[in-house]
Amino acid sequence: MSEESISIAYDHPVEGDEGSCSTAQSWAKKPREPNPEEKAELIARIKRLLQEQDAVLVAHYYVHPDLQDLAEATGGMVSDSLDMANFGYQHPAKTIVVAGVRFMGETAKILNPEKRVLMPDLEAECSLDLGCPADEFAAFCDAHPDRTVVVYANTSAAVKARADWMVTSSIALPIVKYLHEQGQKILWAPDRHLGAYVQEQTGADMLLWQGSCVVHDEFKMQELIELKALYPRAKVLVHPESPRAVVQLADVVGSTTQLIKATQTLDAHEFIVATDNGILHKMRTLAPDKIFLEAPTAGYGANCTSCNHCPWMAMNGLFGVAEVLESGKNEIHVDPEVGKLAKVSIQRMLDFAKQINLPTRGIGNA
Ligand code: 13P
Ligand code: SF4
Repeated sequence: MSEESISIAYDHPVEGDEGSCSTAQSWAKKPREPNPEEKAELIARIKRLLQEQDAVLVAHYYVHPDLQDLAEATGGMVSDSLDMANFGYQHPAKTIVVAGVRFMGETAKILNPEKRVLMPDLEAECSLDLGCPADEFAAFCDAHPDRTVVVYANTSAAVKARADWMVTSSIALPIVKYLHEQGQKILWAPDRHLGAYVQEQTGADMLLWQGSCVVHDEFKMQELIELKALYPRAKVLVHPESPRAVVQLADVVGSTTQLIKATQTLDAHEFIVATDNGILHKMRTLAPDKIFLEAPTAGYGANCTSCNHCPWMAMNGLFGVAEVLESGKNEIHVDPEVGKLAKVSIQRMLDFAKQINLPTRGIGNA
């Protein structure tokens, strides 16, 4: 299979200098698109393999539409990070195939240590995870022992093991609000924009790690204002990993599932969407008559690096899913001791979600 490799620059917080970042480098590769005959054959093969192997496919909204559709067509699910974690936890299948990025596979494994968790590509990273190495994060925590440690799902198992709570974008606000009301001061990692948004909304005392997402960090305020002027009736939907100036222009700020719900509940025909463009597949399927525009990333003095699509989410494809089911390769392993510790912070979030009745199933599924 021929693959194109691309290099990616991301923020790496500078040690001992809270608030600054240096630029680090990573890479991603894009799998080849199957032609129509290959696609039909791959889909039929994957359906058979899922059944034979008592496996279920769970996909994120940012992966290729073929994988999102296949997950739903085979009794799996497409959803945000919180629902992905919950679904794998509750599903009886012996094998979970996670189409997403590595932290999503690790979360599934931590919650289901007895199950086999496979991923189409184990090198599907996330700039937030890469920018928050466990040893540097542990030193940050050691320097602030009076703070409750809250980490975003987009982190390694070792970082989660050091945390008191794990949160996703759909539940970060109520959890931090709750901790703030208990009088706790927060140490937050790794996304600085989501952290700043939660801080502003809850008034909590939060010390922020300075990571960022290579996709959301690129949305541009000025160009968004100009697009809004062209579409004055459009509602602006923004994922909170975006910069503050962009979040301030939003009609709705939320996780991927919350943004999709907004396209169903808001009385509007046009939407400007500031998140990975993989989400447009579900939005357009649910509302084929509505107009969805991508928020601008390129503009004055900027170059479109991610072009609204996560380079690591793009590493997932039909070829990879068929291959891992056939070969059993790309299994996720988490050190059992690390997994046990990390599970505590994840379980706290899942219990909290249940307690506040946060809907934890993506929409558009059977
Ligand atoms: P959600 O939990 O909102 O789906 O976000 C995951 C993610 O990686 C966003 O970039
Ligand atoms: Fe990470 Fe951003 Fe990709 Fe989400 S979109 S997986 S936060 S790099």
